[in-house]
Amino acid sequence: MKLALFFLLASLPLSFLQVTSTKKSTTTRRNDCLELSPYCSCLGGPLYIYCNNFTSFSQLDFTLLGEIRNISIITLYPKQAVILNNSLNLEGIRLIDNIVLNNIAGIDLKQNPFEKWTAKDNLSISFFGSNFSQVMECDSSLINDKFKPIFSSFKTVLFGYGNFYSVQICPLLFYNASLSYLNISDLSYTIQPWFTDVSGIDTIHSNIDTLLILSGHGSRITKGLMNGLVFENLNTILISNTVLQKIDDDAFYNIHNLRSLNFRIVNFEKFFKNSTNKWMQSLNSKIKVDYSDPASLSENQNNSILVNLNPLSSSFFFYFTDDDYDNFQYFPHDNFVFARIVMLYPLECSTTMNFLLKNARYYPLELSDVNTTATYKCFPELQTSTKYPTTTDNQGTTITNNSINYVKKSNIFYTFILIHLGLFMIL
Ligand SMILES: *[C@@H]1O[C@H](CO)[C@@H](O)[C@H](O)[C@H]1NC(C)=O
Ligand SMILES: *[C@@H]1O[C@H](CO)[C@@H](O)[C@H](O)[C@H]1NC(C)=O
Ligand SMILES: *[C@@H]1O[C@H](CO)[C@@H](O)[C@H](O)[C@H]1NC(C)=O
Ligand SMILES: *[C@@H]1O[C@H](CO)[C@@H](O)[C@H](O)[C@H]1NC(C)=O
Ligand SMILES: *[C@@H]1O[C@H](CO)[C@@H](O)[C@H](O)[C@H]1NC(C)=O
Ligand SMILES: *[C@@H]1O[C@H](CO)[C@@H](O)[C@H](O)[C@H]1NC(C)=O
Ligand SMILES: *[C@@H]1O[C@H](CO)[C@@H](O)[C@H](O)[C@H]1NC(C)=O
Ligand SMILES: *[C@@H]1O[C@H](CO)[C@@H](O)[C@H](O)[C@H]1NC(C)=O
Ligand SMILES: *[C@@H]1O[C@H](CO)[C@@H](O)[C@H](O)[C@H]1NC(C)=O
Ligand SMILES: *[C@@H]1O[C@H](CO)[C@@H](O)[C@H](O)[C@H]1NC(C)=O
Ligand SMILES: *[C@@H]1O[C@H](CO)[C@@H](O)[C@H](O)[C@H]1NC(C)=O
Repeated sequence: MKLALFFLLASLPLSFLQVTSTKKSTTTRRNDCLELSPYCSCLGGPLYIYCNNFTSFSQLDFTLLGEIRNISIITLYPKQAVILNNSLNLEGIRLIDNIVLNNIAGIDLKQNPFEKWTAKDNLSISFFGSNFSQVMECDSSLINDKFKPIFSSFKTVLFGYGNFYSVQICPLLFYNASLSYLNISDLSYTIQPWFTDVSGIDTIHSNIDTLLILSGHGSRITKGLMNGLVFENLNTILISNTVLQKIDDDAFYNIHNLRSLNFRIVNFEKFFKNSTNKWMQSLNSKIKVDYSDPASLSENQNNSILVNLNPLSSSFFFYFTDDDYDNFQYFPHDNFVFARIVMLYPLECSTTMNFLLKNARYYPLELSDVNTTATYKCFPELQTSTKYPTTTDNQGTTITNNSINYVKKSNIFYTFILIHLGLFMIL
């Protein structure tokens, strides 16, 4: 039945596609930058330049356009792997969105072809199909008044599909960077950016707000990725749309300004049930809080981490039952870390739920972030409050039992709806 539905739905857009593509193929697409032949063309309209089949950036000359042109996206795909350096000259165009680079062998730390831009220009740079294989000199002695490596010129950076990181990447590339996002797709167990350890330096003035892990199969989060200099001011980690295999026990030991860690992974249950998740201990490891001491709480009011446990992007639900306690036993309450549990209906107050919520009422930011639809019935204040209904008569108990039954029934109902919703979204 499902298969039939699939074909029914799949055939609809397909036939549309065929109609439109036959229409398109009758008219040849116009090239809006003939001046840039033979290496570049603008078949997607005057705002999009695509260059390939060149062997050196010095073969590209955008001043041939005559007057300076606004370009939304420029894509450069050299025939052979090249180093990104000042031989790329973008004079002649004014970039307004994104530069997309393929087949890059390395980045010259001492040169910056984008030097005239700063983060305020809101531009993005993306890397695809690149094998970072050129060993980078990585020494704090490179830092001087004129040191302005490439990432300080952008607002967001993407390490996209098809990249290899054969050599370690120098954290100094992020010197004075001010990124709203560093995005990584295709993160796997072994293929991921690994950063060099730089000694004798404790800041590179790197301000990356969010690390977004967009996709990956069998992904692993390591200390080599979570570099203390690159991410010295990292606020948010979002692991999205990823099949996560492992987080190393020491992964976050060098990360000290994180405020939120968000799991929207595909294999929520498999990942969390696979180990005792000792990596949790490495979160906020420099912070120690005494919950019974108001001074300690107020001193640390800006130092909390919210771990967002959201199983809803996964194909299975997760109920945080008594059986799951071992998988969360290392949840680092003492490091001022809090759990946000997301579900569509209230969960039962298991040992695990009570443990995860144990200090929830001390969360220094929005209490509603931790007191969710899933948790409010087990929220500490409600349980300990003397105002909590103390009805001991039979009617009261009956109502409680009925409501638990109701919750159980609605679980099944929601599961049903979600599976179908999920199926629909996949289609
Ligand atoms: C690529 O450049 C070579 C010369 O370097 C040329 O012979 C070939 O036709 C070009 N290929 C394409 C697809 O433009
Ligand atoms: C290019 O963009 C700038 C600012 O975004 C705008 O002021 C200018 O008019 C644009 N030029 C053209 C030719 O569209
Ligand atoms: C840039 O790198 C290429 C190798 O990809 C090299 O041949 C060229 O000399 C370099 N240019 C500059 C300005 O350093
Ligand atoms: C960059 O984005 C910020 C915030 O969205 C905006 O205030 C600013 O004007 C933008 N700058 C440019 C050059 O577009
Ligand atoms: C990447 O480059 C290195 C060094 O040139 C090479 O040994 C390795 O095979 C390359 N890897 C891929 C996947 O192309
Ligand atoms: C990185 O992800 C953010 C959030 O989805 C997005 O706004 C930004 O454009 C992405 N940057 C790149 C270079 O893809
Ligand atoms: C960082 O860049 C800004 C401009 O974007 C500049 O004013 C500042 O001096 C730079 N800081 C360092 C430490 O180089
Ligand atoms: C569970 O852990 C084992 C051993 O660390 C690992 O080999 C396996 O891939 C993990 N499975 C998942 C689904 O994460
Ligand atoms: C926390 O941050 C707020 C707002 O930035 C600031 O006013 C306050 O002094 C900070 N508190 C501590 C203890 O650092
Ligand atoms: C938690 O949320 C519930 C439902 O929205 C609300 O009734 C309750 O007062 C909240 N508890 C606290 C301590 O804010
Ligand atoms: C309510 O449920 C509890 C166990 O969940 C059971 O022990 C108790 O007997 C039930 N009470 C009634 C009135 O059904």
